[in-house]
This record gives sequence, structure tokens and C-alpha cells, in this order.
Amino acid sequence: MNDTLGTDVAAEIEAGLATLGERFRGAFAACNSEPELRAANAAILGKKGELTSLLKLLGRVPPERRREIGEQVNATRARVEACFSGRLLELAEAARKADLEATPFDLTLPGRTPAPRGHLHPITRVKDEILDNFRSLGFEVAWGPEVEHESNNFTKLAFPPDHPATDMQDTFWVHVAGAPPDARLLLRTHTSSVQVREMSTHAPPLAIVSGGAVYRRDDDPTHSPMFHQIEGFLVDERVTFASLKGVLSEFVRRLYGPNVPVRFRPSYFPFVEPGAEVDIGCVFCSLDDGTRTSCRVCKGSGWLEVLGSGMVHPAVLEHCGIDAERYTGFAFGLGVERVAMLRYGIPDIRLLFENDPRFLAQF
Ligand code: DAH
Repeated sequence: MNDTLGTDVAAEIEAGLATLGERFRGAFAACNSEPELRAANAAILGKKGELTSLLKLLGRVPPERRREIGEQVNATRARVEACFSGRLLELAEAARKADLEATPFDLTLPGRTPAPRGHLHPITRVKDEILDNFRSLGFEVAWGPEVEHESNNFTKLAFPPDHPATDMQDTFWVHVAGAPPDARLLLRTHTSSVQVREMSTHAPPLAIVSGGAVYRRDDDPTHSPMFHQIEGFLVDERVTFASLKGVLSEFVRRLYGPNVPVRFRPSYFPFVEPGAEVDIGCVFCSLDDGTRTSCRVCKGSGWLEVLGSGMVHPAVLEHCGIDAERYTGFAFGLGVERVAMLRYGIPDIRLLFENDPRFLAQF
């Protein structure tokens, strides 16, 4: 062991401790953030820190002085550590205080981009409202498929085989993979097919409504190849045209207002006899102030057609296995888009299916 060298090492450590002195106090006090403080601490106690390098020399100090020098180094380290912890606490307290004194964060502020809220499509709303209306009049709600048998859509409803509605021009005939070769399937052209389905499977008394999509080869501002209908019918003993008038007048008034004029006009549908179209007084020019002739909605007539209806044809009852001598009934059908267009003043049916949020958000 080289005494001189050992003495030098002890002296070097003592000199280092003296250089460090209490300098760390000022350095820590000058730090104003935790990362800054940790960096300053690392410069002394870190792997390559000022005090750590002195500590590394300790092994080379002669044994008789090692303890004394070691104690000096450790005492310095303890003071640095205590000073560091003290300053760290001060900084945390200062940050907490600044938080508490800052303008409070308003938890009730809405987010910057609130998620847009959706709502039911106007067609769905009007359809549900109409079904609810009939439900409250005692009707039950039924459902039928959109891909239908020709017999349910046409034949059993007494359409003659060559009726123009069955034409390729009007009807979407479909081939369904796996269907029997003689199955004649189509996209239903009206919801009247639900009449056939319900009357063939249930015995009177029956009061049923149904709503849903129907399809026709039509495409212009007031016709869409896909649109929605509501169908309803009531079959029992002693049902008369007066029952039809009573129920449908009540329904129309619920839908368009209690004072709306209602009229029944003879019309033809193969599955009813007699058949009637129901008109209401034009809701756009109801006050006939002399400008009626220019009303584009009723084309100056003062009336709007809103429903098809009639007494169920005895042939239809028989096709469905219902005794037409004992039972009579009335039926009706209406377009949901037409109701929505009249109610909201929508000029073009296609707007309802383009799904432009700028349009839909208006309802
Ligand atoms: N199915 C007819 C159509 O689509 C509407 C209709 C008319 C239904 C008279 C009926 C009815 O039940 O009696 O034009």
C-alpha cells in the first residue's frame, strides 16, 4: 500500500467534499420543477454524480482513515438527500396550491364536438304513429314479408291473371335460390298481401293493421320504386260501409286534425266491392281565399286523396277460407310517404331516401 498515494486520495475526497460544500442547497432551491430538481440531484448523486465519484474513491483510502472519510461522505450524502426531499415536497405543495387557486375547471362544459344525436327517420315516425292510432282503435298489428307469393299479392286478392299491375313494367319478379321451380315470387307491390296471410290463418272477428315497404317500377318526384304502406282490415258479422266510414273518418281526423273535411269517392280496386277513395280537404289551401286554383298540391281541386278503401270482396274472403255469407269486412290502404310529404311539406319523395343529414335533421 502506498501511503502517500492513500493520503492523497483521502485529501482528494476531502477537497471534493469542500468544493461541493453546501452548493447543492442553492442549486436545488433554484429548481422550479420536479424534472429540473431531479436533474440537479442526479448531477450530485447520480451514476456519474459529483458525490458518487468521490464515493468510488473510498476503497483506495488507507484503512485507518477510511471510516472517518466514509462518514464525511455519508454525512454529505444525507444532507443532499434531505435537501432534495425537502425541495421536492415544496415543489409538490406549490403545484397543488397553484391548481387550487387557478380558475376552476368547469366539468359541466359540453365537449368540443358533442356526438351528434340521431332520431327515427320521418317515415318510421309517421308509420309508427299511424299504427299506434289504429292500435288505440282496437286493431292488432301484424307483419308480412317483402318477398311474397304471387297468390298472396295478386291472385287471392282477385286480380285477374292479366291485370296490368302484374305486368313486368309494374312488378319486380324475383328468383330466390332454392325456391321450388313453380314458385312465383315477387317484391310485394302493396301491403294488401298481409290481408290474405292473416285471413287465411285466423278466424273472424279480425281487426288488423300492418305497415312496411312495398316495391313498384316507378320513379319520379312523387313515386319511388320502394315506398311504405299501411294496410288494415276489419272482418266480422254485420260489418257495413257505415263501419268503414266511421272508422276511417275518425282515423283521418286523428291524423290531420279534428276539423278536416273528409269525403268518400267511388273508386275501383279488384279486391273490394264497392271501393272508395278517401279524400281530405287540401291542407295547403284549406282557406279558400280565391287562390286555390294555383295550389300545386291539390291542383286546384281543394281535395287530397289519402286512402284507398272498400268492402272486402266476397271472393277474397272465400279465397282465404272465410264464409262470405256470414262475414263481411272493410279494408283500406295508404302510403306513408304521402302522409309525411303532406305533413312536412316535402316536395320530392326522393329526398326521403337520399339520407342527407341536412334534410333529415330538419325533422
Ligand atoms: N293496395 C292498394 C294500393 O296499393 C291500396 C288499397 C286500396 C288497399 C283499397 C285496400 C283497399 O285495402 O281496400 O293501391
